[in-house]
Amino acid sequence: MKKNIILMGPPGAGKGTLAKQLKEELHLVHISTGDMFRDAIKAQTELGKLAQSYINRGDLVPDDVTIGLVKERLSQSDCDAGFLLDGFPRTLVQAEALNKLSKEISREIDVVVNLDCDNDELVRRISGRRVCKNCGAPYHVITMKPKVEGVCDLCGGPLYQRKDDNVEALKVRLEHYVSDTKPLLDYYKDLGLLASFNSLVGKETLFDEVCSFLKK
Ligand code: AP5
Repeated sequence: MKKNIILMGPPGAGKGTLAKQLKEELHLVHISTGDMFRDAIKAQTELGKLAQSYINRGDLVPDDVTIGLVKERLSQSDCDAGFLLDGFPRTLVQAEALNKLSKEISREIDVVVNLDCDNDELVRRISGRRVCKNCGAPYHVITMKPKVEGVCDLCGGPLYQRKDDNVEALKVRLEHYVSDTKPLLDYYKDLGLLASFNSLVGKETLFDEVCSFLKK
């Protein structure tokens, strides 16, 4: 089984949704840099104060800060079981730092799962996304409604719209994806690690396809 996994794809491709499904099924640690920054913002830590303005604009948090955060998390013992990196790396500097770190701590990457999705669908998904304030479970106002409007099915927490889920910030996020992150697909293809999946097939089909691939 492949157990040290990077999930890649543009904003709204479904990385977080898939990571939550895979984490349960394969018992892997889910490491989302976006979630780590949002937790830090909620707690108003120094990291949160620094990250807030970058994230709200749709810009990337500086590499040194992000790399330091992942380095610390990936070195923890629960990652022995395997991990899903969601939203990291996003730049070539981050990818090279991860390459070096993963060798140093003997946790080399087994595969990079890339989710393909077209731009119109990304806009639809991001503009309709709602997230649970307590547990982070993702919903959509049209395609993934909770049983009770505004309330999380899993924990009963309130649903909210992320501050960076607006037209202006999404434009910036997509620009960063194209200029900074998309080139990493070639980087990982050259390393023989890239596996791409079409995320337009729907949440459950995508999960089945990726899961059976990872279990091989
Ligand atoms: P982050 O939280 O990583 O955001 P993102 O990459 O923009 O990705 P999203 O969380 O928006 O989308 P997703 O692909 O997880 O989609 P989801 O599953 O929610 O990062 C946020 C910010 O933090 C960045 O902009 C940056 O500022 C900063 N940051 C983070 N990492 C960084 C790094 N490494 N370096 C520097 N800065 C960093 O799904 C979206 C919607 O679609 C949901 O409504 C869902 O219900 C629906 N959906 C999901 N899957 C499907 C499906 N298969 N079919 C139909 N609908 C689906």
